[in-house]
Amino acid sequence: MTENNRKTETPSDEILSTGRLNQSHSPRSQSQNADQNQGTFSLLDGASSQAPFIAPELETQKKVAADKTQPLNERIEAYEDIIDSEVGDTTLSRARNIEREVGLRQIYLKFEGGNPTGTQKDRIAFAQAMDAMRRGFEAITVATCGNYGMAIALAASMAGLECFVYIPEGYHTRRINEILNSRVQIIRVQGDYEIAVNLSREMAKREEIYDANPGGENTALQLQAYGEISHEIYDELRDAPAAVAVPVSNGTTLAGIYRGFLSLYRRGKTSHIPRMVAGSSHGKNPIIRAFLKNVPNCDDLEPDRIRETAVNEPLINWHSIDGDYALEAIRRTGGWAAYASDKGMLSYSKLLREREGLNVLPASTAGLLVLLERHRKETLPGDRYVVVLTGRGS
Ligand SMILES: Cc1ncc(COP(=O)(O)O)c(C=O)c1O
Repeated sequence: MTENNRKTETPSDEILSTGRLNQSHSPRSQSQNADQNQGTFSLLDGASSQAPFIAPELETQKKVAADKTQPLNERIEAYEDIIDSEVGDTTLSRARNIEREVGLRQIYLKFEGGNPTGTQKDRIAFAQAMDAMRRGFEAITVATCGNYGMAIALAASMAGLECFVYIPEGYHTRRINEILNSRVQIIRVQGDYEIAVNLSREMAKREEIYDANPGGENTALQLQAYGEISHEIYDELRDAPAAVAVPVSNGTTLAGIYRGFLSLYRRGKTSHIPRMVAGSSHGKNPIIRAFLKNVPNCDDLEPDRIRETAVNEPLINWHSIDGDYALEAIRRTGGWAAYASDKGMLSYSKLLREREGLNVLPASTAGLLVLLERHRKETLPGDRYVVVLTGRGS
């Protein structure tokens, strides 16, 4: 895209007049709020509140990357420094106390809460914001339950991009308050996540804004960014584990991890590909349903049957955008998928806090729950099991 044909205004009146947007949360009014905050980010609540998003020693890189008067190659180099230093390389630690409690060796926890905004979404947000910068976009958009929006808001601000985040009106996410304190325009959508994605995508097409939603032309980039998780696991274990358990919604994270291990195996680095294990909210995810019903594809669920709660929000959807990739990964590796109830996820997050001292978002325990429930029923053999805990608690 060239400088001349790029449009960077707020979404057009056409979007605002669809009737699906809450006018009191129009992009324009949120923009004004953001400006009053002069672009600063709030700190996170609770246990994580002491840390700024990005390490202070990267102040120079932050200035250069976001400064449009600087040459593009220097901005990209600075942005790469920020990614190298801050995104990914999350910890992989043995859950020794849980192992003793459940009688399964060896469980490793890959804690994605160490990313700047506290979830794995930072990986794809920063990769795409850099892609947007490189390709000359001036703005980026995404629909989200909250976590991805926060990640995109931060990644965009570091890249000097304008940012439009679509969030379903009914969602409880506390991340909206964090996003509101950034230079982002939030559009609350009167509808579900899928409607929010469509609106965000339509706006991207119409306004020539970078579309960071799953399922678009950036799928390969997103899968590659999540594939880094596999490389980091390999770096520590020097082989693939027996299984990797992951919470799923659209299935992008799980599919990316599978692709990463597939590539490591093909390159002769690992002796096998791990079994991919998926967990998601009870009755509210097409990947799990397709697996349990043994049907070939991830068919959509009835939208009316989806009920979001403060716990299940990151995981529910009636249409899993990358669901078929995830389903294929689970089946090809001899993995499995099962549901996790809100109560179960809450109790596993309590277990992680009490036994391992980790503060995790309840939804991010869905993979752990599904792995350990299987073990309870049919005693898994002692081996190396990796559980991806996708987010930190607030
Ligand atoms: C914390 C957390 N875990 C897991 C997921 C599911 O990721 P995916 O949509 O890639 O399956 C999400 C999605 O929003 C999330 O926010």
